[in-house]
Amino acid sequence: MPVTALVSAKSCGTTASALALTLASRRPSLLAECDPAGGTIRAGFLQGAVTAGYGLYHLAAAERVGSAELATAFAHHLWGIDDAGHRKLLPGLTDPAQAPALTRTWPALAEVLKVLAADAGHDVFVDAGRLALEAGRLHPTLTPAPLLHAADFVLLTVRATDQSLTLARHLIEPLRTELDEHATGSDALGLLLIEDGPYRPTQVAAALHTPVLAALPWDTETAGYLTTGGRPPRGYARSPLLRHARSATDQLEALAQRRSIHLNRSAPDTNPHLAGVLQRLTNARGGSRG
Ligand SMILES: Nc1ncnc2c1ncn2[C@@H]1O[C@H](COP(=O)(O)OP(=O)(O)OP(=O)(O)O)[C@@H](O)[C@H]1O
Ligand SMILES: [Mg+2]
Repeated sequence: MPVTALVSAKSCGTTASALALTLASRRPSLLAECDPAGGTIRAGFLQGAVTAGYGLYHLAAAERVGSAELATAFAHHLWGIDDAGHRKLLPGLTDPAQAPALTRTWPALAEVLKVLAADAGHDVFVDAGRLALEAGRLHPTLTPAPLLHAADFVLLTVRATDQSLTLARHLIEPLRTELDEHATGSDALGLLLIEDGPYRPTQVAAALHTPVLAALPWDTETAGYLTTGGRPPRGYARSPLLRHARSATDQLEALAQRRSIHLNRSAPDTNPHLAGVLQRLTNARGGSRG
């Protein structure tokens, strides 16, 4: 299954979309909330149910000990976001000041996420937040660049409005360069279009010279629930946002298969240190909502 990283220029719906994709996938799924500016799911969708004792920040200390410790900590810090335990969240930072401590953790975390997707059949989504640039390159501490390098797809979230397209335009070339130089190529870059605004997908793709790899409808009721939590709206599982998110995950999986054949890539060898992650994820649920 693919690892899909979501980024944005500014507050377009990245977090709500990442949650929708994770909750809608037909396969076991995981959302890693890796926005260096801090996570919002803990206080929003989860309404404070997860304490600061859980989450991404704790992986920094574990990684300094070793990859086996990182694998163990990763499994321990996941939070179940459905009753069956098939959908999990790695809760994000509680304070943006924690982000620099993660700089050396990102490559090791990227490897764990790849193993989870390739060997444990999880659909993996990464909320990488707003992209910060420095001198035309991804900012070394304010962007989790190694997670983007390792992803099968990097989706730039945009709305179909002039405001959103104007800001997104400046990110395309730096992202392409980054993926050409450090990853499997700039064809991993695509758009996740939130259908709010006058432009059609073909117009958005033409304006940004980038394909729309997934599109999600404007659905304030479902998105509001994913943003602030509480009681799910009536018919939530069949809502436009969840239905389209489900199709989007199928489409991404099909595209990833085609791309890996094109790249002539075989499944990576599993690092033996990470075997414990898979074991724990299949045997235990970790924390759970409610
Ligand atoms: N498909 C959608 N339909 C309607 N509203 C949406 C949709 N997606 C997101 N929203 C709303 O847009 C607002 C911003 O969404 P969200 O927090 O997910 O964006 P973000 O890109 O993660 O922002 P930030 O850059 O601040 O992290 C929220 O109020 C959310 O409910
Ligand atoms: Mg966000």
